[in-house]
Amino acid sequence: MTAYAHGAVRVFEDPEALARGAAEELARRAEAAVRDANRFTLALSGGHTPLALYGLLADVYGPRFPWDRIHLFWGDERDVPPDDEASNFGTLRREMLNRMSRRPASVHPIPTTGQDAAAVAWTYERELVNFFGLAPGEPPRFDVVLLGLGGDGHTASLFPGTVALTEQKRLVVANWVEELSSHRITLTLPVLNAARAVLFLVAGEAKAEILRRVLQGPHDREALPAQLVRPDDGDLFWLVDRAAASLLHL
Ligand code: 6PG
Repeated sequence: MTAYAHGAVRVFEDPEALARGAAEELARRAEAAVRDANRFTLALSGGHTPLALYGLLADVYGPRFPWDRIHLFWGDERDVPPDDEASNFGTLRREMLNRMSRRPASVHPIPTTGQDAAAVAWTYERELVNFFGLAPGEPPRFDVVLLGLGGDGHTASLFPGTVALTEQKRLVVANWVEELSSHRITLTLPVLNAARAVLFLVAGEAKAEILRRVLQGPHDREALPAQLVRPDDGDLFWLVDRAAASLLHL
């Protein structure tokens, strides 16, 4: 394990090894959380990188997980219905849930049907408050938050230069993303940074330069939102493949 100011970087040979490493890490953390608190709360990432992991959780690693004590949430969602191919929940339902014989204790998709993005964010915020029994202003403490890294330095749906980057009170917001001409519903930084552990999964040569900038370049809160993810009292791990790590000085 090579440690950097932004957390511990672990390099895997290729995307398949990365997915296996992430599954092992999640299994260890789920086992510990269930032993300590009889539940494991996991906020899932969208995008393509974690798809191999989700397939492993459905198949190979499924028996390793205490699914009846696991509660699934999402770090962000596109402003589309679940049956849209862009839906992060729809993708996970297809790539994992529909392939599993055992069901998680609870699944909490961001409810993007029948209401505008701002109302969706309020609804999900209330769901977090109710599930975690939060006091006013208290962020939920997920056992693990899975995150990806966009080529522009975004993570979840915290995009460079967007309003959500400065949100310090809300748990969930509808974030207007100009370059996408759409809203994204996203957990805010207070929630991400309250996590017991944040696992970034980053793979592929196309991410090498942005990963180098985020981990080893100057701090730039507006341009590199992923740099703002630093759990206040939790672990930060960067699980990356060799191609994505190719520009890092390890
Ligand atoms: C999303 C994700 C987003 C993603 C990055 C990386 O909804 O798309 O939350 O933050 O993790 O864009 O995506 P890839 O894994 O597809 O490169």
